[in-house]
Amino acid sequence: MTRKILVTSALPYANGSIHLGHLVEYVQTDIWVRFQKMQGHECWYVCADDTHGTPIMLRAEKEGITPEALIERVHGEHLRDFTGFHVGFDNYYSTNSDENRQLSQGIYRRLRNAGLIEARTIEQFYDPQKDMFLPDRFIKGECPKCHAKDQYGDSCEACGASYAPTDLIEPYSAVSGAKPVRRESEHYFFKLGECEAFLREWTRGGHLQPEAANKMAEWFEAGLQSWDISRDAPYFGFEIPDAPGKYFYVWLDAPVGYMASFGNLCAQRGLDFDAFWREGSETELYHFIGKDILYFHALFWPAMLQYSGYRTPTKIFAHGFLTVDGQKMSKSRGTFITAESYLKQGLDPEWLRYYYAAKLNGSMEDIDLNLEDFVARVNSDLVGKYINIASRTVGFVTKRFGGKLCRALSAEAQGVIDRFGRERPGAPAREALIAAHYDNREYGKALREVMALADIANQYVDEQKPWELAKQEGQEARLHEVCTVSLNLFRLLTLYLKPVLPELAEKVESFLNIPPLKWTDGQQLLLDHAITPYQHLMTRIDPKQIDALVAANRENLKAAPAPEPHSPVRHGEKQQHSPSPQSSPVGGERANVGAIAPMVSIEDFAKIDLRIARIVSAEHVEGADKLLRLTLDIGTDTRTVFAGIKTAYAPELLVGRLTVMVANLAPRKMRFGESRGMVLAAGDGGSLYLLGPDEGARPGMRVK
Ligand code: MSP
Ligand code: ZN
Repeated sequence: MTRKILVTSALPYANGSIHLGHLVEYVQTDIWVRFQKMQGHECWYVCADDTHGTPIMLRAEKEGITPEALIERVHGEHLRDFTGFHVGFDNYYSTNSDENRQLSQGIYRRLRNAGLIEARTIEQFYDPQKDMFLPDRFIKGECPKCHAKDQYGDSCEACGASYAPTDLIEPYSAVSGAKPVRRESEHYFFKLGECEAFLREWTRGGHLQPEAANKMAEWFEAGLQSWDISRDAPYFGFEIPDAPGKYFYVWLDAPVGYMASFGNLCAQRGLDFDAFWREGSETELYHFIGKDILYFHALFWPAMLQYSGYRTPTKIFAHGFLTVDGQKMSKSRGTFITAESYLKQGLDPEWLRYYYAAKLNGSMEDIDLNLEDFVARVNSDLVGKYINIASRTVGFVTKRFGGKLCRALSAEAQGVIDRFGRERPGAPAREALIAAHYDNREYGKALREVMALADIANQYVDEQKPWELAKQEGQEARLHEVCTVSLNLFRLLTLYLKPVLPELAEKVESFLNIPPLKWTDGQQLLLDHAITPYQHLMTRIDPKQIDALVAANRENLKAAPAPEPHSPVRHGEKQQHSPSPQSSPVGGERANVGAIAPMVSIEDFAKIDLRIARIVSAEHVEGADKLLRLTLDIGTDTRTVFAGIKTAYAPELLVGRLTVMVANLAPRKMRFGESRGMVLAAGDGGSLYLLGPDEGARPGMRVK
């Protein structure tokens, strides 16, 4: 029976870059979706950027652009990164869309008509200078417990205490620095408590993993509080109907974004939206999320849907968090790795997809990216075992048999294929087991089965020794058959790996000269068939590539700019992350992406003497992992400058190039010598680009 399935991943915030932590989720979901599609089911995968809220509004303001311009730019970046990792959304939309406004307002009206919305006046901190109410994490002050300075409004990073922003000693606004005042305002609340009976029932309905159901029990125990769904202007979001100046809190319209993205897809493809969303729909709806946002998806979201007359999710699949080498991702250690930098360093996205899949299961446990293990695992499983099967046999087929596979198999060879992966003759093939593992999100188990099969295939090649057959007289037919069997086993392995390695599978399909593999293709053999010459499939990971990736993502803490407000995750009140501006060291200085620095006058700017310089020499600096010593010719003078561009440029490639330098920067004594000036480069934390003039410029020219 073909199932009709709608799948979502959580909508990433539009104010940060996609990093390897996010990718756990998108890769996990994508594998599942590809598997379902290969099964022949009708399966749609939608996502969007989560675009509303205070952090996005303030970030745009800092950059001097509108929120719309910011979210449009980030949408492009996110989609580029996801595409780079082969995450195949059927639609990647935005929560700032007409569809989403209409659906969100409609749901709100229905909840209000059901008597589930109440208005209450609450008191909150207000920034009198900026004229806005301050979310908790935009208030800072001294920790009431340990007296650490500059702590966020909800918890202390020094001692871990959590408290209300009103408990802070000498609070100040993280936006303007002003002393906040208490001010009253009317807020709208969703009366979650009234949904308790439904939610308890829903929790028992098999929609959640066991650990998630336990969490729910804790939340019921603690009591379901009404949920504050409104925010006061100024706020980047949707206005609440009949409530001028009030906006939906970002988490109200964010999950509705799943519906909106699907609605937009329906319009493009002529699909029936209601068939998927009406109450009692027989279609299936699955949300993949991280464990940090369970509260929103297992409590608020089903309640919102149920009481506004829509269907509720079939299942919520929550996963754990990514750690790198056993620790939280860290900018100072270089393990806060962006998707962009991974791809820019030339690493293969399928290496990471494979590694994540090998580590993933159906639980909410955290998963660890151990960098050494990553290299070892990918090299031994994918290159050493899987690819090896093809590379050891395909050459003979092209060179000796005109690129054609045997017409038929002997009983013996047929037996090898029939027994492949069966416990005993006639027992069910592993294929069904592998499929069940994929379906249950037990990818680690699925891949262990596949690799066990790869071992069997390699063992067959080892025993048959085609390279020896090739040298013997009268063994032509045997050699042809051994290669045919091997390539058929390789084709089956490719089929089983295809949800994880879609691009590699495509390359294999192209050299085997076959249409895209579907799950049922496991039943047939490839015989009497012409293949095309072998293409290179995958290279090994060189551990040096990993070192370079970590170096490119490492931020040098002493020079790091003050982080922007963020808050640790609290259940039910998760706020948006506002990652600190990423920066890269250039001549010891740092260039930010994101925040625009305060205004300067033209007179201030004129004080800076920028010159065209020719790099006459570039050398490594003993003991410095980022610096190069540059000798610059600026027409009238030669300068020595230390520049933090070693991770991006090999010194020999720099010699002779023109660049731009700050010629009147006060000399600075560094551990390695004196630096007299600074070269200019653009960077975003991941990569660096040295600035250079257009053709025709000469050393010494002033840059204005
Ligand atoms: N915008 C909300 C989701 C709204 S859904 C209606 C959000 N965005 S997020 O960008 O912070 O995270 C997007 C997804 O990535 C979430 O499911 C989150 O759990 C997941 N991850 C973010 N960092 C992660 C790790 N370090 N590890 C694993 N998953 C992580 O939450
Ligand atoms: Zn403290």
